[in-house]
Amino acid sequence: MKTAQPPMTVADIRKSFLDFFESKGHTVVPSSPLVPGNDPTLMFTNSGMVQFKDVFLGTDKRPYVRAASVQACLRAGGKHNDLENVGYTARHHTFFEMLGNWSFGDYFKKESIEWGWELLTKVFGLPAEKLTATVYIDDDEAYEIWNKVIGLPPERIIRIGDNKGGKYKSDNFWMMADTGPCGPCSEIFYDHGPHIPGGPPGSPDEDGDRFIEIWNHVFMQFEMHEDGSLTKLPAPCVDTGMGLERLAAILQHVHSNYEIDLFERLIAEAGKVTGCADLANPSLKVIADHIRATAFLVSDGVIPSNEGRGYVQRRIIRRAIRHGYKLGQKQPFFYKLVPVLVELMGAAYPRLQADAKRVEEVLKTEEERFFETLANGMEILDDALIAGRKELPGHVAFKLHDTYGFPLDLTQDVCREKGVTVDVAGFDEAMAAQKAAGRAAGKFKMDKQVDYSGAANVFTGYDELQHASKVVALYADGVSVDALKEGEAGIVVLDTTPFYAESGGQVGDSGVLAAEGVEFGVQDTQKIKADVYGHHGVMTQGSLKVGDMVDARVDQATRAATMRNHSVTHLMHKALREVLGTHVQQKGSLVDAEKTRFDFAHNAPVTGAQIIEIERRVNDEILANAPTQARVMDIESAQQTGAMMLFGEKYGETVRVLDIGSSRELCGGTHVQRTGDIGLFKIVSEGGVAAGVRRVEAITGANALQYVQGLEATVQSVAATLRAPAVEVQTRLSQTLDQVKSLEKEIAQLKGKLASSQGDELVGQAVEVKGIKVLAAALPGADAKALRETMDKLKDKLGTAAIVLAAVDGDKVQIAAGVTKDSVGKVKAGELVNFVAQQVGGKGGGKPDMAMAGGTDASGLPKALQSVQAWVAERA
Ligand code: ALA
Repeated sequence: MKTAQPPMTVADIRKSFLDFFESKGHTVVPSSPLVPGNDPTLMFTNSGMVQFKDVFLGTDKRPYVRAASVQACLRAGGKHNDLENVGYTARHHTFFEMLGNWSFGDYFKKESIEWGWELLTKVFGLPAEKLTATVYIDDDEAYEIWNKVIGLPPERIIRIGDNKGGKYKSDNFWMMADTGPCGPCSEIFYDHGPHIPGGPPGSPDEDGDRFIEIWNHVFMQFEMHEDGSLTKLPAPCVDTGMGLERLAAILQHVHSNYEIDLFERLIAEAGKVTGCADLANPSLKVIADHIRATAFLVSDGVIPSNEGRGYVQRRIIRRAIRHGYKLGQKQPFFYKLVPVLVELMGAAYPRLQADAKRVEEVLKTEEERFFETLANGMEILDDALIAGRKELPGHVAFKLHDTYGFPLDLTQDVCREKGVTVDVAGFDEAMAAQKAAGRAAGKFKMDKQVDYSGAANVFTGYDELQHASKVVALYADGVSVDALKEGEAGIVVLDTTPFYAESGGQVGDSGVLAAEGVEFGVQDTQKIKADVYGHHGVMTQGSLKVGDMVDARVDQATRAATMRNHSVTHLMHKALREVLGTHVQQKGSLVDAEKTRFDFAHNAPVTGAQIIEIERRVNDEILANAPTQARVMDIESAQQTGAMMLFGEKYGETVRVLDIGSSRELCGGTHVQRTGDIGLFKIVSEGGVAAGVRRVEAITGANALQYVQGLEATVQSVAATLRAPAVEVQTRLSQTLDQVKSLEKEIAQLKGKLASSQGDELVGQAVEVKGIKVLAAALPGADAKALRETMDKLKDKLGTAAIVLAAVDGDKVQIAAGVTKDSVGKVKAGELVNFVAQQVGGKGGGKPDMAMAGGTDASGLPKALQSVQAWVAERA
């Protein structure tokens, strides 16, 4: 008898998938970060193929031709965006895991489909009769494979054309982004059975839950260009993607992705931290989905901010917090889910495990910040959602965004729950008006891509800074042109170039491209593709045509300064790890001619003593004047050299190992020839940029000298002011400060004396009202202490009295009221002081015999003092 097997867990599925493809000759590669390396066309890794984009395009090579992975993906912001749907459907996620296998010019449609079928039916045991396939309308080859090789009957092979409103806009034609590799695809659907509403793919009710797409096999054959044209890829490739959560739902016999083992735990925990016992509450799904997205984002270096990726991160976190708030949370709760998430996913994603502490800190900080404005914002929103309103005005949505930190989609999410829409056009208008006023916020800025399909250029700039080059392409306004005329801005592509294009944190080179009577000023150099550099600038003289020869000259001084800062970054990175510990990991860097700015994981401020030690180590390396060594080798050999590798960098098949002093890193940047070229190294600032991330800025060479000279000049001028030699400035300053302190003391004593002598004079001004001596007067120059002391003296001298004394400093007024013990039954000092204070814009209080108050309107004081007599008379 067969015993029923327990259903596969998410962890089992990951393993079975990878094992299966490994057995078919695939190399298992780790999930790449959610932030794609060096790719301005894409906001986040949205499928498994992203880390292989350049391999498809033929500009990058790997030591394998078959690969498989379980990839962490994010579909929020950008072309593929599911953020709005999370919480409302059974199958949408921002973050999800994609199982994928790839062929880079190796196998094609037949093996892809055959193996897919084998895995689903044999390994995962799905019944063949429950599977249906779709193919692109004219993909007869895929159709025949499904029909003849797999044996799928024609009624379960559905051809789908351009059903999304344009050429190649189809469910069966897949594109990573608006440009890039793409191709027809074949999707495999699972049929949940006739008892579930919904129709087969391509039918009018395909959106029902009966037929669920589980696996997409893309036959990558083309590159899509910006103008909508397609060119063939160097070799046909396969790219498949299967949503892990969907597959798990099927294998675990549940209908919603949110019921699989992983989500069951996460949702239970979300219920715990929000105090929500109803585990079916949709807000818990939102929170469970969003903790995955945001935790992985932090781990991959995305900190909440107001622009770009950081803003998407902020939107997701705040959306989750709002759902917690809805469940009654008024304090940070979201970050508390990190430990369970790590427990569930840390084994498959070791980096998440390593970063757990930092992830918690970043999320908590963002929560604390948002909780400061959330309640007020919700109040405004609730007030605006008056009964019967069908649309929230754009200006309200904008105010919520601008003042209360409510991202638009959060406001929309709240409104949607109440059946109200948001006037997005009005919101955009308000936003545009504000942007015009100079405060940009919000959207991901994507560099305009130019379309270049020619050969790669040769980069000569490691050894040369000037040589003759040929113009091979020109662009104006992002469009290819034959010539650039005087005054026009544009981009020039050369056959060979000494200009370094921005990458690895080092800025692009500037300089000129010149010929007889012709000059193009290069302001920046940026990569158009991996091996094609665009020289951005302006035609300052004459014109340039494609085919012209130019003398390409890099600005040498700027480049030399940049190289010093880049080389020293390696030395500093090493010193930071030695002094602070090996947890120090690079989180970002910017190297230009002015400075090196280096962000790294570390939990506490770097102390003054540590900075001195780091500076010492780096300057020692500089003084040793060791020659720089660059070696190009394959990635495995490079790993064996122990070189520092940065996680998330895309390393090609061959890499450059750089030895600078005793540091060893993989780096494609340009560097000094010997460490001595760096000159002086000086750290100029240290601070925190986000929870768990510190930033140091440092300078070298002439900049460092100038900085030190600037400090010296400051010391000299301080010395001159103090009339002391520079070396004695410290002693002289301490002496001066001591002197100031003792003078202050003396002044205070004098003030007291002055006030009490004024007090003596005042005795005569008291007027007797029904047996109580009433005195109300201002004491010029007195402070609170003098007021109190004078008050005590006057009470002694007057015997039975009610006294008001006031001191004025600018608009501010301090008031003291005193009543002798024998009169407190009739007149209370607290009431008296309040009576006076109210007339000078303030209030106060105290005991029946002594009270103090402050006011902000000194102009009312004379009248207020005059009124005291009558006030006492009424009560005495
Ligand atoms: N890259 C393909 C997808 O995401 C497999 O559907």
